[in-house]
Amino acid sequence: MLPDLFIQNIGQLVTVTGASHKPKTFHGMDEIGIIRDGAVLIKDGNFIDIGTTKRLKKKYATANTKIIDATGRVALPGFVDSHTHAVFGGNRTGEFVQRIQGETYLEILKKGGGIVNTVEHTRKLKFQKLAETSRKYLDTMLLHGTTTAEIKSGYGLDINTELKILKVIHHLQKTHSMDIVATFLGAHMIPPEYKNDPGTYIKLVCNVLPKVKPYATFCDTFCDVGAFSIKQSERVLKTAKSLGFRLKIHTNEFKDIGGVSLAIQLEAVSADHLDNIKHRDIVRLKESNVICVLLPGVPFFLMKDTYAPAQKMIENGLPVALATDFNPGTCPCENMQTIITLACIKMGMTPVQAINAATINAAHAIGMAHRLGSIEPGKQADMIILDVRHYNELPYYFGINHVTMTIKRGRVVMENNQLIH
Ligand code: NIG
Ligand code: FE
Repeated sequence: MLPDLFIQNIGQLVTVTGASHKPKTFHGMDEIGIIRDGAVLIKDGNFIDIGTTKRLKKKYATANTKIIDATGRVALPGFVDSHTHAVFGGNRTGEFVQRIQGETYLEILKKGGGIVNTVEHTRKLKFQKLAETSRKYLDTMLLHGTTTAEIKSGYGLDINTELKILKVIHHLQKTHSMDIVATFLGAHMIPPEYKNDPGTYIKLVCNVLPKVKPYATFCDTFCDVGAFSIKQSERVLKTAKSLGFRLKIHTNEFKDIGGVSLAIQLEAVSADHLDNIKHRDIVRLKESNVICVLLPGVPFFLMKDTYAPAQKMIENGLPVALATDFNPGTCPCENMQTIITLACIKMGMTPVQAINAATINAAHAIGMAHRLGSIEPGKQADMIILDVRHYNELPYYFGINHVTMTIKRGRVVMENNQLIH
């Protein structure tokens, strides 16, 4: 049994409370519920009480409690990374250099590089090696304050490799201290073997859905130019929905081909990327519950200046979340702190809005907000302590790791850059 944990003298305890049932929108995005000189009591992996140190100390000063002092520091809920592709082989440093020299992502894709390049490497790796590689990525996430991540398959594109990836995700769910949510992304790209017969590949993906169901909560498709059309995406997502999958969609990353309407029509939990969204779709989204998962690391890494219009979305009352999209092609970055900085600088989000988007709204985007994403009595004790005086310093001092301690389910899992297994 874990001892009770009492964390006291927190300079700013950023609770992000009040949005466990519905994601934050409008003015809710401008509040993060700060308690100055705050404290939390954790018992059996959950937050029991939160408040000022003065009040809680009187109530809980018992001998059985382990006390942690966070004098002058900032505490936040652990980051929730609601969109990653963290199971893959190899990397794409070669393409990175090609892009720096002027080739575009879509040109490289057309020539048979891109996702298919990573598929070749992923197919070659044995389960054990693939699991080890991914575990390292998750460890890096944890070191940087991410306590929960969604992970997609999609670098197999044949039944055996997709299943291998999903089993790796399942293995990590059981053995890694992070919470992990699994997504099946068989419709990530047409594999080379079906280049001239995409219809058959779509059929194959639909037919494999019952087999992968035990391993994945969500089903996703890459609905964009160079990947899957509306019709193809609709076929996969509709079949998935009828089998009980919850839905996500990659859309408007490169072009608007109508993916937002599809997300609304099929009641997807989230539509992700949205860098090229038009005004009419922002208006349409207002009538839905679809969460906009924005991934500013992608246009940054692809050297583009089209970012999702986050401010306009917030003004229109849309729920906005942030994620890394960690993957070898468009965002090889595990660090949500970097994404928060990019959201502020490139999309005009305030630090407060970005923190809401990276915690509670991100938890909603993976259906976990009842348990995660905020510091409130009764919720799972996932919390990070940052070596900054004010939460605005988190995106301001960029490019370094501010997290000095990570608490996952009430246990200290990282302290001073060391993971504690
Ligand atoms: O989210 N958009 C599709 N999938 C990834 C890119 C994957 C890759 O290039 O390997 C993304 O950006
Ligand atoms: Fe993605």
